[in-house]
Amino acid sequence: MCGIVAYVGDKQAYPILIKGLHRLEYRGYDSSGVAILNGKLNLYKRKGKVNQLEDFVENKDINGTIGIAHTRWATHGQPNDENAHPHFSQNQDLAIIHNGIIENYVSLKEELISRGHKFLSETDTEVLIHLIEDIQDNEKLDLAESVRVALNQVVGAYAIAVISKDESNKLIVAKNGSPMVIGIGDNDFYVASDATPIVEYTRKVIYMEDGEMAILEKGKDIILKSVKNIIHTPYFQELTMSLDALEKGGYEHFMLKEIFEQPISIRETMRGRLRLGQGIVNLGGITEYKNKLMNAKRILMIACGTSWHAGLVGEYLFEELTRIPVEVEYASEFRYRNPIITEDDVVIAISQSGETADTLAAIKMAKEKGATILGICNVVGSSIPRETHAGSYTHAGPEIGVASTKAFTSQVTLLTMMALMIAHEKGSITNSRHQQLLNALDAIPNQIEEVLKTNDFVKEVALLYKDSKNALYLGRGYNFPVALEGALKLKEISYIHAEGYPAAEMKHGPIALIDEQMPVIVIAPKKGHYDKLVSNIQEVKARKGKVIAIVTKGDTEVRNMADHVIEIPEVEELLVPLVATIPLQLFSYYIAVMRDCNVDQPRNLAKSVTVE
Ligand code: M6R
Repeated sequence: MCGIVAYVGDKQAYPILIKGLHRLEYRGYDSSGVAILNGKLNLYKRKGKVNQLEDFVENKDINGTIGIAHTRWATHGQPNDENAHPHFSQNQDLAIIHNGIIENYVSLKEELISRGHKFLSETDTEVLIHLIEDIQDNEKLDLAESVRVALNQVVGAYAIAVISKDESNKLIVAKNGSPMVIGIGDNDFYVASDATPIVEYTRKVIYMEDGEMAILEKGKDIILKSVKNIIHTPYFQELTMSLDALEKGGYEHFMLKEIFEQPISIRETMRGRLRLGQGIVNLGGITEYKNKLMNAKRILMIACGTSWHAGLVGEYLFEELTRIPVEVEYASEFRYRNPIITEDDVVIAISQSGETADTLAAIKMAKEKGATILGICNVVGSSIPRETHAGSYTHAGPEIGVASTKAFTSQVTLLTMMALMIAHEKGSITNSRHQQLLNALDAIPNQIEEVLKTNDFVKEVALLYKDSKNALYLGRGYNFPVALEGALKLKEISYIHAEGYPAAEMKHGPIALIDEQMPVIVIAPKKGHYDKLVSNIQEVKARKGKVIAIVTKGDTEVRNMADHVIEIPEVEELLVPLVATIPLQLFSYYIAVMRDCNVDQPRNLAKSVTVE
């Protein structure tokens, strides 16, 4: 978590840094700060959001063409002014920003205290900058070398940027386990946790590798090396991201924009890959591993949160279409339970950000044990795609709202394409069924446009339930993961307690919760256990629960029983999650807005969970 941004060059640093912090605020928003060199080292930081920092620095000296800035998601120490980044060194000659965790900071701190260092914060980061200065003073090294020597004493994850009063044109950055991108301008350098703060200034970037550091000096070429002091040749890449994708584009919140973008994002996921004319799916990124996947004894889907829900849909898809056994694992559980992994296993790691610490650690472990690892990620150049053997990007475009929406439907779309590709190759479905499903998948973006027309109605229903204390989401088969996802969306942005359940499990406990206060959202499309769901709805109504049903267009049976029905078009059973999810996203969104919650930045959350 945490977002870092830094600049060195000819331009004024502050506007670049503050705009960058706004772009990275999705990564954490407990506190923020900035340090700018201008003869003096001016450092300002504040508890709260980036806006509060902006108010605080008004009328302060923010001149300077080199600076570092940070937006924090607290790990060590409470979110307060002292613990906010940047942090000064003991003499206040150096300043640092850091994303990650220094695991051995306690022993380093004790050692430094014994040598007279005094600390102002509870953070691990402050220990690191004191250590760098201590090395610089004692060993008479320049800034870059002091950083390098210090990093060799550090255990943990970091992306850091350091500046010094004495080397006022130099920015030193390093990465290990936390993301870091360097943008190469004409006569300047931009650094950030992801490419979003960089893209409007330059499209030429370097994604740093673990164990690398860079010396960025105004007017000079980048020096890239390992912390073991081996010079590396930079690998430049071109950013393709559009700037519009980073703005709200007239919507009140990123989340609403991203919900409405789904017809486009799903088309982007399929573009060039779903080839109706040829009757094939072509996923170039995994071609080399197609046979491995086809012959896998078992597929393991590993993910967290919403991506885990996409994995559950993937389990139903792969088992039905390819007949390969699938297990879906929470990355955090998987990595710590000594699982049985063989060389015949294929692991599919699913992650929007490509940075989730548990998912990353789980795939490293599975890789060491010989499994083949494929990735499904959204953020290009992030850590997970670089750790996998191969993979496919979802191409959903930047997702800024902390609650994942379009990333989920793109993940499910990609999993559907993958399963269809393998099923076709294996012959586990007939050619005609394959073509039928390709056609059906191709039609989904238009059908989502239809579903989005329920927006006003969903908003009216949301108004009736905005004060609920609890909510229950029920679904069967492919729609059980949709129920889980609906419940997660509601709880994470509106702070209403919600649970997703397989509908049949209701009788085994949750039914006890049902009374006239309890909204029960049932995903009850015509295809897939419809009669059983009708019975479940009757059971809820018999206990006076309020039923909001997601039904197939034209349904009359459920309409006669439910309190509200939201219609979705008739689609293949295995594609229902793609359309049924949409009204649930809208429902959570409107409830959160009506409860005055911060929809895009819900409390205590961050978009990329880069700590375990
Ligand atoms: O970036 P990832 O897909 O790996 O993130 C996984 C979860 O942290 C994420 O889906 C989280 O649950 C979202 N807040 C859900 O909306």
